[in-house]
Amino acid sequence: MKPLILGIFQYISPNGTVGSAWQHPDDTSADFLSIDHWTELAQKFDAAGLDFLFLADSYGFPALDGELLDAAVREGRGVPQGDPMPIVTAMAAVTDKLGFILTTSTTVEQPAANARRFATLDHFTKGRIGWNIVTGSSGATAAALMGRDLISHDTRYDMADDYVDVCLKLWEGSWADDALRLDKENGVYADPAGVRMIHHEGPYFRAHGILNLPPSPQRTPLLVQAGASGRGREFAGRNAEAVFVAGGVPSVVAANVAGVRASAVAAGRAADSVKLLVGALFITAPTHDEAVAKHTEMLAMSTPEGAAAIYAGNTGIDLLALDPDKPLAQTSTEMGQSNVERYLAKDGTPAPLVRDILENFRTTGINGSVFVGTPEEVVDQVEEFVRATDVDGFLIQPHLTPGTYDDLIELVLPVLKSRGLMTAERHGSTLREQLFGEGAARLPASHRGQAFSAAATPVV
Ligand SMILES: Cc1cc2nc3c(=O)[nH]c(=O)nc-3n(C[C@H](O)[C@H](O)[C@H](O)COP(=O)(O)O)c2cc1C
Repeated sequence: MKPLILGIFQYISPNGTVGSAWQHPDDTSADFLSIDHWTELAQKFDAAGLDFLFLADSYGFPALDGELLDAAVREGRGVPQGDPMPIVTAMAAVTDKLGFILTTSTTVEQPAANARRFATLDHFTKGRIGWNIVTGSSGATAAALMGRDLISHDTRYDMADDYVDVCLKLWEGSWADDALRLDKENGVYADPAGVRMIHHEGPYFRAHGILNLPPSPQRTPLLVQAGASGRGREFAGRNAEAVFVAGGVPSVVAANVAGVRASAVAAGRAADSVKLLVGALFITAPTHDEAVAKHTEMLAMSTPEGAAAIYAGNTGIDLLALDPDKPLAQTSTEMGQSNVERYLAKDGTPAPLVRDILENFRTTGINGSVFVGTPEEVVDQVEEFVRATDVDGFLIQPHLTPGTYDDLIELVLPVLKSRGLMTAERHGSTLREQLFGEGAARLPASHRGQAFSAAATPVV
């Protein structure tokens, strides 16, 4: 088995990925508005040799029919939530290798603003930045906040394709590699012949102008995607270099993984040109009983009301208002589709009942897979899961901050290393090289973004 890619999942919020761990006496995540909280965590992850820190984000919040849900506010779940962008440079300044993947939604800002911000961050992080492209969970509240109507699910992905085109043209097409001269003797900052206007007249976005920055180490940030609906997977096949998939039953995860790889092949790319990373909780302790006790303690901090609020914000469906003894009557939504599809009948297995859906969501959250036990037991479970699903790595959710990470680093990583599932070896200095190997700092030739390259024919 190949070494795994390991990233850490966080929001700029008190912990709430499964339950409200901020209330635990040892948990420090309520300090999420302090810069030191983040720089200390980033240093810990960097020193441990983890690949990246992922900062999830959404402008939406848990609501039903446009009304904020009390449980979300009371329990600190989905409310509050800060913008991940401003903290990244502080973390980059105190780390060497750790990558940073940030979410922005294609339904919030204009693509050129997004492209410029990521290009600036790619410079400031020396090529350690990735973009998690989402069309927006909690889409209804985010749209209302921006003064817009909710755009239908598949149209959001059509718009996202167009949005990414604008970004790729700016990143790949605006500056030639040798345009920057910095020639003090002759007073030439950059060669005007190497800085080009890009022109985009797409179905949803128009952009005419330049990326007002010289090329950054990666040019295009590592492109990541997180929606697992059918249309989401198609989008991933065209655009993504890494995909975050929800965990859960291995056969379902395996089908998602195979679906993304097939979409990549349909888009003319190799099946392994996309790294599949599964959201998961690793709960461990020196003995099995202690690990189980930690898990039980964690679940006690997750209420049905809090879980239902997160589910409602994501899908628009109120699990608490449905008959607990029936499956979901609704099989699709114009909001996030993955967490509806997750609970439909499949492969001969009947659809779960609403009471079981709520309990499953309460105990696993949006990510799904939970590995509990001694470090050896956890790594045994991980190996079995990887074999059954063909995933490339994990996105590790916090339970307690920093306790979950200390357990991971002190107990699990040594076992992963001893089995060859983690290497301390670093590949190049950029995030893309860390995932794809030294020398792979830029988008590969097989990615459609290369068609917009400044080295190729002029961009139209
Ligand atoms: C591990 C993981 C991380 C995610 N991170 C985000 C995020 O930061 N912001 C967001 O809006 N959606 C995020 N999502 C995706 C949403 O949960 C939701 O599935 C998606 O936005 C809607 O797309 P879909 O209809 O294709 O599922 C994440 C999903 C997973 C599994």
